[in-house]
Formats: sequence, C-alpha cells, structure tokens
Amino acid sequence: MSGRPRGARHPVPQKEHVKLLEIRGLTKTFPGVVALENVDFDLSAGEIHCLVGENGAGKSTFIKVLSGALAPDRGTLRLFDAEYQSLTPRQAIDLGVQTVYQESILVGTLTIGENIYLGHENLTRTGFFDVSSTMRRARELMVSLGIGFNPRTVVSELSTAERQIVGIVKALSKDARILVLDEPTASLSSSEKEMLLGLLRTIAAHEVGIIYISHHLEEVFEVGDRITVLKDGRRVSTHEGKTVDRELLIREMVGRDASLFYRREPAEPSANRPKNLRVENYTRKGVVDGITFEVAGGEIFGIGGMVGAGRTELVRLLFGLDTRDAGRLLYDGRDITPSTPLHAIRHGLCLITEDRQKTGLILVRSVKENVSIARLALKAGPFMNLREEDGVVSDIVRQLRIMTPSIRQEVVNLSGGNQQKVVLAKWMLTDADIFLFDEPTRGIDIGSKEEIYRLMTSLASQGRIVIMVSSDMPELTSMSDRVGIMRGGRMVCILERGEISEEAILSHSIGAIQR
Ligand SMILES: Nc1ncnc2c1ncn2[C@@H]1O[C@H](COP(=O)(O)OP(=O)(O)OP(=O)(O)O)[C@@H](O)[C@H]1O
Ligand SMILES: [Mg+2]
Repeated sequence: MSGRPRGARHPVPQKEHVKLLEIRGLTKTFPGVVALENVDFDLSAGEIHCLVGENGAGKSTFIKVLSGALAPDRGTLRLFDAEYQSLTPRQAIDLGVQTVYQESILVGTLTIGENIYLGHENLTRTGFFDVSSTMRRARELMVSLGIGFNPRTVVSELSTAERQIVGIVKALSKDARILVLDEPTASLSSSEKEMLLGLLRTIAAHEVGIIYISHHLEEVFEVGDRITVLKDGRRVSTHEGKTVDRELLIREMVGRDASLFYRREPAEPSANRPKNLRVENYTRKGVVDGITFEVAGGEIFGIGGMVGAGRTELVRLLFGLDTRDAGRLLYDGRDITPSTPLHAIRHGLCLITEDRQKTGLILVRSVKENVSIARLALKAGPFMNLREEDGVVSDIVRQLRIMTPSIRQEVVNLSGGNQQKVVLAKWMLTDADIFLFDEPTRGIDIGSKEEIYRLMTSLASQGRIVIMVSSDMPELTSMSDRVGIMRGGRMVCILERGEISEEAILSHSIGAIQR
C-alpha cells in the first residue's frame, strides 16, 4: 500500500546492542486494583519493543513508572548500569527517557524550530532565544531523521500528524536514548500512520530504544522487534516480532479467540417500516459546506475522509453542539433540527464522541453515575428504582468488559480505553433513535471492539439510525452499509455497498478521483 520498500526496515542488529533498560519485578497497586504485578521488561539500543494488552492491562501505568510520574510498590529499574527503586520525572528526563503521549503539547503560535527547542538552554549570552542557531539545529535534526519540514513554519498550520511528528522530534532533541510512545497514532489517518512508523524505524536506526504502545495490532506486527503482552498487570509473554503467531498473541491478550477483523453478520430486515433520516444542506461557514444525505433505519452509514476534512465538525453540528449557518434534519419526514444538545437528546439523538474526557464524562463521578446520567435525564417521572439501576449498569459494564473494581469507582481512575467504554455504555442504554459515533473504537482493545461492533449491529437491526465517523479502515469497510467521503468540508461522494474498499475510500479522501 505504501511505496516503502520492504527492505527499509531498520537493519537487523548484527553486533550486541547495548542494553538500555532492565526492569525486574515491577509491582504497582491502587486501591482495589493490581495495575502491575511482578513485571519484567528490557530494552536494547536500536530496538522497537511493543507493549500490548487489553484496556486496563497496565500499559500506561508501566510508562508512568518509567517516566517518573508514579513510584512503584516494588521492583527495580536498571537504566544504563545504575539501579533505581523509583525515579522522579526530572531524573527520568536527565537519563534520556522521553515520553510522547497521544496528543503532543506544542505552542501553536510558535514555529516548529522554536517548539522543538522550547525549554532548552539555547540562549545567547544576552539571554535571548538565538533564532538562527535554533533554526539551524532544528533543521539538522530533522534532516538526520529524513523529515523535510521547514523549521520556520508556524505549528498552527500543521496537521495533527505533522504536529505529532514535531512532538517526537522535540522529544529526541533532548538527547533521548529511550523514546516511549503511548498510543501516538490514535488520531492519525492511515497514510499518516505509515509516515510515523517510518520515522520510528529511522529513530531506532540511530540507536535509540523505543517502547511503543498501540491497540492497532497491524502496526505492532509491522514495526515491533519484540512484542510483550500484558494481561491484568502481569507479563504473559514476550515474542519476537517477525515470527509471532498472531492468533496466539491475540488469545493471550484477550483470553479467548478473537479475530483481527470483525465480520458483520448480514442485517436481518427490521419488521417495522424503517424511518429515514435526512440531513439537508448542513453548513457552517469555513468548516462544513452544504452536506446532504439520507440514512435509512437499520442502516450503518460510515463517514470517511482525512483528519481535518470536517467529519467531526459535521456530527457536532448535527447534535446541536455548534451553530449552523444552514441545514435541516428530518426524521421520518418530521423536522427535528436541534439547536442545542439538550434539544437533540430530546429528539432521540445521541453523540458518542472521540474526545471522551472533554465532552463525554464527568471524571470525578462514579462509573454508575456516568452511565446512568443520560438515561435518567430522559426518563419521565420523579421516581427511580436504584436497585434496578445498579443491575442495568452492572450488566453493561460486564458486556463491554469495562475493567473497574466496582461501579462506584470514580471514572478518573479508569484507564483511557475503559473511560471510552463508559461513554459508550452511557448512550447504549438510552432509547435514542439516532446514534452518531465519532471514532467509536479509538483506543479500545481488540476484544472489546468486537463487543462494540456487536452492539452497533444490534442497534441497526432494531431499525435505528447509525452514523459512524471512522479513520479505522477495517472498521469502516466491514461495518458500513454505505460510506460517505468528506474532503474539505464537503461530502464528495457516497460509496454504495459493492463499491466500498480501502482503496476507494483513500483515493476519494485525498481527491485522487473526481466524480
Ligand atoms: N490513579 C489510579 N487510581 C486507581 N486505579 C488506577 C489509577 N490509575 C490506573 N488505575 C487502574 O490500573 C489499571 C491499569 O490501568 P492503565 O491505565 O495502566 O491501563 P492501560 O493498559 O493503559 O489501558 P488502556 O489501553 O485503556 O489505556 C486499570 O484497572 C486502572 O483502572
Ligand atoms: Mg493507557
């Protein structure tokens, strides 16, 4: 798919590579949860060591211990021949451990060069930022990594992927010897992912050790020299990347058989007359431009396109989160155009966002409160049956495999993927007619993905409307009945069932085909 030759993989270690990191018996507990139990792990220079496991398996906790954000209960960290019981964040950075999270934190108004060297002591004798030397160093560093960006470009002009790459360059600029990436491709499109994976290989070829966390197993198989599986805080196994038995690895992660790609069973036609949703001329100036399409009840309508094509903006408009300049929403011929989210909810819409922390959850409240809130807000009548509510919440927590010691746990303490599942659970339990999903399985492990796909299929087979924005190609191609492609704020084409393929979606997304 990408033009990269097979041999571009970084060279197989010939000589003995320097051992950078050796972790023994790492254990970390939280009240009611053993996040890490007796974990061993090591990393050599020039190696990409991937860490995989279900939501809540302990991956981020592991990274937090290594980067000094958390102190372990037990265990030792051996870094460059010195042994530590725990690290402070300062120590970790001084030792050359650099961590890049999902979204890089950059200053939009500054240039690439300034962002890379922000916080370094790269000042002139008079105390000013030395612009020309900063730009020169930034350019040299990027050239050494095969990146052609102009260091004088302002960061706000970059795409998400480009920012992510600048974030990685920034991490490397601080003499990183161990680079840690926790789900860095979550918000990237597939071609951007390829770019990033290529960069990782180049970095590893510079004798940096990389720890890479991702739920996209395809990426892990592509880039990993070794792959370690965590389950319930324990290390299950460590595989050689090239020879790994993929099915075995998935079984080790999930604890049962799960396929790499979910196949949607053919939908049973609903007994009731399907109610249609008509999106008519939805417009918000500069963002979304005259979008019209129809979705039949029982149908899953996928929306594809590059990051920044206006897909998230469209579903936000449909839900009444932003103000539209034009547009009507008709359900079964009735005008239900919402102008506020509350209005939207009352008309049977729900929006399951990609951005769970900002819009989907009240972090300091319990799992139960978060799951129940939308349901109870809609239920008429002053009484609610608390015991029944407990049962309903527990059921969905089990079904979606939400890992939490109890439904009374505060959501802030759950792992990233489990927070996402709480958002899903919340809306799955409402009686909404129209479901808008924005990247529904971002950050979700492979076993739970299947459960979510099953729930979405069952919503559709009950005659409801499902609209799903997704950058996950297998998800888009295997779940959608039709796929609308957005580019530059417009819906440039709608692919019918027989026309849906990864190639078709990609070429329309980037504008290689005009219709
Ligand atoms: N501050 C905390 N307080 C209580 N429990 C916590 C805290 N941080 C993490 N946990 C728990 O520790 C376990 C491991 O969480 P961690 O974030 O490491 O998982 P993860 O493998 O990164 O999952 P994901 O794929 O969802 O990001 C989870 O059960 C989580 O709920
Ligand atoms: Mg995590």
